[in-house]
Amino acid sequence: MSSSMRVGILTAGGDSPGLNAAVRGFGKAAIGHYGMEIVGFRDGFRGLAEDRRMRLDSSTLAGILTVGGTILGTSRDKPHRMPVDGKIVDMTDAIVATYRRARLDALVCVGGGGTAKNALRLSKAGLSIVTLPKTIDNDVAETDASIGFATALEIATEAIDRLHSTAHSHHRIVVAEVMGHRAGWLTLCAGIAGGADVTLIPEIPYDLDAVVAAIRRRTRKGTNFSIVAVAEGARDVESARVYGECLARRERATDEGEKRAIEAEIAAFDADHTGHSLRLARRLEEATGLESRVTILGYVQRGGTPSPIDRLLATRLGNAGADLVAAGVDGVMVAAAGEGTRPVRLARVAGRRKTVPLDHPFLTAARRVGTCFGD
Ligand code: F6P
Repeated sequence: MSSSMRVGILTAGGDSPGLNAAVRGFGKAAIGHYGMEIVGFRDGFRGLAEDRRMRLDSSTLAGILTVGGTILGTSRDKPHRMPVDGKIVDMTDAIVATYRRARLDALVCVGGGGTAKNALRLSKAGLSIVTLPKTIDNDVAETDASIGFATALEIATEAIDRLHSTAHSHHRIVVAEVMGHRAGWLTLCAGIAGGADVTLIPEIPYDLDAVVAAIRRRTRKGTNFSIVAVAEGARDVESARVYGECLARRERATDEGEKRAIEAEIAAFDADHTGHSLRLARRLEEATGLESRVTILGYVQRGGTPSPIDRLLATRLGNAGADLVAAGVDGVMVAAAGEGTRPVRLARVAGRRKTVPLDHPFLTAARRVGTCFGD
């Protein structure tokens, strides 16, 4: 069956280092090992809706292992709610039509939790889909690892290392904002690896007084600088309560109009939260008397060449994806499981997020080496 198969591939959601390595890992196995034909779709689900294809063969797949970003392009477009000419349109039928027109036997989507949700919807609409997990946030459910996290961790750790020496020289507090709106893996791990004194993550709402007390304790011991690693989505106790209620209301909402209204509320909260690290630094400076600075690591964490760990992960997940497609398996994500992989039904991944459990060994280890989590 596999020698005559035609398989589409796209990358969706925020980009992450290792996407090209995954496209190559899948493509080379699919073409070279299974004799399949591969069709790339540009810019995530939008390229599928608009039938914008890219030729993928052994020559286009060569030389991309180490290249950052994605040669296919990506977008955060959702098939069932795509902005088209100023309106939000359900493009599911257009996507199904492209799939049929391109005579695809299967579609591989490299993406995070949102992509798994979209893929599940499309598989219900009749498409044979396999997804590969990627995200620098490491928050895709049911997989041990996601493509991009290892590289982002290296970048964030190196940044914290560099901030350490300048904070030390100037006797300052440096607040380093790390990506992660809903999950604190990247901040937690970079904080441990970089020796942050305070680490604030979305899973642990913080009390400013506890953070101030930790910094003052360091000053009393004669250490008058501190590194505060803060996740984009970290909130103080009160803000976390209000935001959490909003998210819970959205989960409960059944009416589409009500859902939209709550989503607008959440978007407003998110927009307001953007200056959070700057406000935090100001409040810490006022409370401790130590000069404070902020560094927002931002998109640097998602750019550039993937680390060896991510190249390896992307290659083996891509290969396993080719095996599953060749075997006619669909409606699954290829999860990393130790050194191997396992297929997980998309229904088990969609709508779930892997956040940091409060009893996670990383948290225990960090606390034991003296990290303050603001709780
Ligand atoms: O999904 C990964 C992520 O990097 C988050 O950590 C971050 O909040 C988000 O993407 C922002 O991405 P964009 O601005 O591309 O939507």
